Amino acid sequence: MKLKGGLRNCGMTEWIYSRIIGLSEAKTIALVGVSNKRELYNLLKDDYDVTMYDYNMEYNDIVCKDVVFDIELKEDLIVNFACEKMYPLGRIYKSREFILIGDSEFHSGDCNPIESTQQLIEQNNIKDIYDTTTFTRWCGKYYLVYGCN
Ligand SMILES: C[S@@+](CC[C@H](N)C(=O)[O-])C[C@H]1O[C@@H](n2cnc3c(N)ncnc32)[C@H](O)[C@@H]1O
Repeated sequence: MKLKGGLRNCGMTEWIYSRIIGLSEAKTIALVGVSNKRELYNLLKDDYDVTMYDYNMEYNDIVCKDVVFDIELKEDLIVNFACEKMYPLGRIYKSREFILIGDSEFHSGDCNPIESTQQLIEQNNIKDIYDTTTFTRWCGKYYLVYGCN
């Protein structure tokens, strides 16, 4: 499957989408730190109850909340696009399904730079690991983990 404009066309949207439709039993999905990315949402929205969260007030189609401090996520599956920017959600939510995405680009505001899939697994207490992968970016890498804690 080829997607136009999917997460800078590196194949990440395809990887996430195929894990969800192939392996997940979730009915409700939270897309966290989603910023202006809509490719995954557009693929999922007809078949799942999908809610997007980001505390950036620029976007009017999302729930504008800090997902660490302002809200309790209820969804079966949490897809976190910005693990490098926040406290690990796996320490807040237990027995939950996660797709965790973090990068090693050390942007300002990255309080939790991610440098391996193992780091994501450990800091989110992921017990059942379904899949992991890495995508190369121009300044670093994206690390992805799919599993349950
Ligand atoms: C700019 S994106 C970058 C993600 C990723 N590094 C990338 O390049 O694809 C990260 C988004 O996460 C949001 N964000 C960071 N911490 C958050 C939090 N605690 N709650 C909600 N949104 C958050 C920011 O507002 C931002 O829009």
